[in-house]
Amino acid sequence: MANYKRIENAVNRFITGDCETVMKRLPAESVDFVLTSPPYADKRDYGLLDGMISPDDYVDWFMPKGKQIYRVLKENGSFVLNISDKVVDGFQHLYVFELLLKLCKETGFHLVRDYIWYNPATPPNVYSRGGYGRTKKSHEYCFWLAKGDTWKFNLAIPLLDVNNSKQKVQGVFCIAQHSFRKPRL
Ligand SMILES: C[S@@+](CC[C@H](N)C(=O)[O-])C[C@H]1O[C@@H](n2cnc3c(N)ncnc32)[C@H](O)[C@@H]1O
Repeated sequence: MANYKRIENAVNRFITGDCETVMKRLPAESVDFVLTSPPYADKRDYGLLDGMISPDDYVDWFMPKGKQIYRVLKENGSFVLNISDKVVDGFQHLYVFELLLKLCKETGFHLVRDYIWYNPATPPNVYSRGGYGRTKKSHEYCFWLAKGDTWKFNLAIPLLDVNNSKQKVQGVFCIAQHSFRKPRL
């Protein structure tokens, strides 16, 4: 594996591999921003890496990666964690919130803002019919965590009005549905 002791060797490259192993090869305090969408708990075996991760094991699985993310981030760096939860034995499992608490209380991250990714595209299922006594879920969490007590924030990005909302600055990211529609012929 290439040597990334100088962060310049990693800039503008796609580096494949287990993220924890790769991050261990990066120098401390060298990265401005980390964004991750880790595996859905118990949902898919992505094949190559860690297989399926159960909700009960999720926090222990993620924490070593979270510690590496903290180490490689610059003092004013940010980390966005896009994550979804899961109903287990009739109730929403708490691993998302347990992980968030641990990342803040044990690793040292600060929660700057929790955003949601509004994703109404989830297909109708037993939840939509009220079969489980609750609504279906149409969002995932996007927790914005800062390493230190200063961070960078570019207001121009949330001002992008993807949902045609009149409210200009909002904590909701939407993927415009029309961009996925087939063009009319
Ligand atoms: C929920 S998916 C995110 C997909 C991604 N947002 C995309 O659009 O391709 C989770 C991804 O994490 C990858 N993954 C799982 N464990 C990993 C690890 N230890 N290191 C790096 N990637 C990992 C999986 O292979 C999968 O592609």
